[in-house]
Amino acid sequence: MKSGTQLLLIHLLILAVATAVAGARAGFASRGLSDAEAGYIRHRQLLYYRDEFGDRGEKVDVDPSLFFPNSHLRNAYIALQAWKQAIISDPLNLTGTWVGSNVCKYKGVFCAPLPSNHSLIVVASIDLNHADIAGYLPEELGLLTDLAVFHINSNRFCGTIPHRFDRLRLLFELDLSNNRFAGKFPDVVLRLPSLKYLDLRFNEFEGTVPSELFDKDLDAIFINSNRFRFDIPNNIGNSPVSVIVLANNRFGGCLPASIGNMSKTLNEIILMNNGLRSCFPKEIGLLKKLTVLDVSFNQLIGPLPNEIGGMRSLEQLDVAHNLLSGQIPASICNLPQNACAMLCVRASSRPLQFVQLCTVCSIPSPATASIPAATFTDRLTTTFAARLTATYSSIIASNTCSFSTFSC
Ligand SMILES: *[C@@H]1O[C@H](CO)[C@@H](O)[C@H](O)[C@H]1NC(C)=O
Ligand SMILES: *[C@@H]1O[C@H](CO)[C@@H](O)[C@H](O)[C@H]1NC(C)=O
Ligand SMILES: *[C@@H]1O[C@H](CO)[C@@H](O)[C@H](O)[C@H]1NC(C)=O
Repeated sequence: MKSGTQLLLIHLLILAVATAVAGARAGFASRGLSDAEAGYIRHRQLLYYRDEFGDRGEKVDVDPSLFFPNSHLRNAYIALQAWKQAIISDPLNLTGTWVGSNVCKYKGVFCAPLPSNHSLIVVASIDLNHADIAGYLPEELGLLTDLAVFHINSNRFCGTIPHRFDRLRLLFELDLSNNRFAGKFPDVVLRLPSLKYLDLRFNEFEGTVPSELFDKDLDAIFINSNRFRFDIPNNIGNSPVSVIVLANNRFGGCLPASIGNMSKTLNEIILMNNGLRSCFPKEIGLLKKLTVLDVSFNQLIGPLPNEIGGMRSLEQLDVAHNLLSGQIPASICNLPQNACAMLCVRASSRPLQFVQLCTVCSIPSPATASIPAATFTDRLTTTFAARLTATYSSIIASNTCSFSTFSC
């Protein structure tokens, strides 16, 4: 099992290279599937779904001369061979090794003893991250019933998520990010009883997000950079996640007050660029474990509530590019002075400008500095703060807050 800290580290790494990933996506797009190829895959997958409960599928004949140590590995062989047939481009030739009965030797496939019976060796993990593979996920993948980890980020898989994924009762981490999956939210993930880590970001999913997602016992939810559209439901406060990233969708609506109910677990929430409208709920101040709060590029109105000072662990606060008004509450000086990646207000013009609020509290005289745009991707590193110089002149871009009443 992966600890929250590990998850967070991975998350930070991934966020730090977000720009690089976006660049890589552009790269994929330029040498990506032709319309004809994409159409072919879509057509095959649709045909397949039509017969989903019949016999039809990718044809996998198991050569009777093949020996399998147990039936789980035989099923895995069928699943992986079906998948291989559903792949139309594998530029790194990773599936070149997917031959013969020893599936544990296939590249990207990892075996381990079954937790409930250590004498059974089974396929426990698939890791095909960054393989640049094009194809789709066949229903046969539901035969990989012992899978705990399924990572296929940064490929060109398209189509939808197999319904039979609901047989993956042990699946703990599902990372489908940075592919070309489309269609409505894959409800099948709601039926995975062991799932803790869900990463769907950088795909083409659209429509609403079922509110059940927030009732599920997940540790991390990444659904940013899709085409989801809905109002954040009130039950978001039921979610026990430590990290939730909804950025770059079209959520709209308000920031529900129930967010204060996440105080025991929430460590990071990123809601940037979602069309959120409403005032900041004062319950935000209950989030004593929160280290990152990013609501930039929305349409939040009204003042920052005085309760904001209650977020005792906060290291980054980004409220830039909203319609906030009024004065910054003096309670902001209660936020940790030393955990100083504080933040960061992006001015509209380049080079980027930042305000380091904790410095605002301790140094009264204005100073201006600009930080080269390149350092922006470093903003999650701990040395970031040390490299910042405060700017007091252009305070909160696109907002009308003022620092004039500080009396720290
Ligand atoms: C792909 O890999 C397999 C096994 O390593 C090898 O036999 C095959 O020749 C490779 N194909 C290409 C096109 O490189
Ligand atoms: C564990 O797996 C072995 C090998 O298949 C089997 O013989 C044994 O009965 C299993 N034990 C249990 C408790 O299911
Ligand atoms: C969740 O938050 C809402 C709004 O702040 C509150 O009315 C409700 O009682 C909270 N529920 C729990 C279980 O704490």
